[in-house]
Amino acid sequence: MSDADRERWNAKYEGAACEGTTEPAAHPLAERALALPLPDGPVLDLASGPSGSALLAARAGRDVRAVDISGVALARLAAAARRDGLSERISVEEADLEVWRPPADAFALVLCTGYWDRALFGPAARAVAPGGLLGWEALTEAARRARPSLRAEWCLAEGEPAALLPAGFTVLEQGDVPGGAKRRLLARRTAAPGGADQ
Ligand SMILES: C[S@@+](CC[C@H](N)C(=O)[O-])C[C@H]1O[C@@H](n2cnc3c(N)ncnc32)[C@H](O)[C@@H]1O
Repeated sequence: MSDADRERWNAKYEGAACEGTTEPAAHPLAERALALPLPDGPVLDLASGPSGSALLAARAGRDVRAVDISGVALARLAAAARRDGLSERISVEEADLEVWRPPADAFALVLCTGYWDRALFGPAARAVAPGGLLGWEALTEAARRARPSLRAEWCLAEGEPAALLPAGFTVLEQGDVPGGAKRRLLARRTAAPGGADQ
């Protein structure tokens, strides 16, 4: 991630704030995952943006760690958390996901929507606690065919991301969002004996 990319994201979020954009809605994948059985433990939201998903998880009683390169997006999330009395539940971390890596086995739910980095996927999957869920949505090769300016490394190849899951995961669902420009994965890590299951 270059400084120019960081500034681009900050400018995008600053622009959205100027336009009076309201709090983003929780991502459908977050809604789906939080409605399923989950083990105890926090939620990790990667490339969170201002994240309605983080707010939804916190309202559901989860501690949430939100990581993003954009300080502007994270400040918006922190302000929304303060407004809603959720500051104790949501921690924000400004970091570059090209280098930042989560701790292993630590999160009931790891969520990443709107971002793809093959090198991050394995560590993110290993950050899921036994019995926990991994939810991911990213652009596909079809999106790049429609918008050739998209970099290849930002787009899922056929079968990804499920094809890249480490052993010990069951795919609950993987499919293209109507239009085919994005693909969604929801997968569960095998539970420890007696833990949460599908
Ligand atoms: C399309 S937005 C998705 C935001 C949110 N997850 C959602 O679904 O609405 C992509 C996010 O990735 C963040 N991002 C881009 N490159 C990043 C990097 N190298 N490290 C951390 N975050 C990054 C941007 O700041 C932005 O918030």
